[in-house]
Amino acid sequence: MLILRKGIILAGGSGKRLSPLTGCISKQLLPVYNKPLIYYPLTTLMLIGIKDILIIINPGEEKLFKKLLGDGKNFGINLNYKIQNKPEGIAQSFLIAEDFLGGDACVLVLGDNIFYGDNLFKILQNAYNSKNSSTIFGYKVKDPERYGVIEFDKKNKVKSIIEKPLNPKSKYAVTGIYFYDKNVVNYAKKISKSERGEFEITDLNNIYIKKGKLKVEIFGRGSAWFDTGTHDSLLEASNFIYTLEKRQSLKIGSPEEVAWRNKWIDNNQLLNLSKFSNKNEYGKYLEELIPFHDNH
Ligand code: G1P
Repeated sequence: MLILRKGIILAGGSGKRLSPLTGCISKQLLPVYNKPLIYYPLTTLMLIGIKDILIIINPGEEKLFKKLLGDGKNFGINLNYKIQNKPEGIAQSFLIAEDFLGGDACVLVLGDNIFYGDNLFKILQNAYNSKNSSTIFGYKVKDPERYGVIEFDKKNKVKSIIEKPLNPKSKYAVTGIYFYDKNVVNYAKKISKSERGEFEITDLNNIYIKKGKLKVEIFGRGSAWFDTGTHDSLLEASNFIYTLEKRQSLKIGSPEEVAWRNKWIDNNQLLNLSKFSNKNEYGKYLEELIPFHDNH
């Protein structure tokens, strides 16, 4: 039986590493080439097929997010918002989301993570459709010390995850998308704050590993993952999106397009949405997706 999952996007955080860019705006609203950063994790959830989504944001930023995304109706989805009063870690998301989840399983995606690749989405969709209800995803990187790092035993089984280790035991970083079963809120309540004052997602993952209930999938060659938390990685992500979009004449991370391809909105609704950007290529692209559209 398919496990229904709700989606959570964590779009809080102080964004200090991106200062002064984040002086007066949340990092998830900063541009990645031609779209706000949050469009990318939002469409990741939509591509998996998730329609019920909670966006966790900083105090004082509700108006901006609602101006951009509203209640989700435009994209045929249902968006809810909740405030994270202090940036106290990723695992705090589940405490904030307790009422929204109402005991359901979920997928959490970090608001500054970008995922790309045919195969990668197949892996995510398989995880969504599998009975194995808690899965995290690893990706081989050059600089594992920046992330949660997967430690494997001799049989290649996951032994533990270590958060930002000085001496990483592997090159595999834990990416910012996490599938959990219905126990996630109860387990999150068991975690205490780390030395850096955060409820660590790594501690939650280690609880699941100890219980033998966490599957780890690896995103392989040909898939791309960006954590855009630094100036350089934000620019690298923009350059990547720019290059692919130019070369393929396709847009990456467009919620209007994904909603339409999922048949959550119809041709007319897409046409109306295209008019918001009718002075540029983005709007033109949306309009041209519609069969037999009138260019004039
Ligand atoms: C967080 C997690 C880390 C994970 C990373 C993915 O790190 O703590 O385990 O690998 O996200 O983006 P942060 O970006 O908060 O430093």
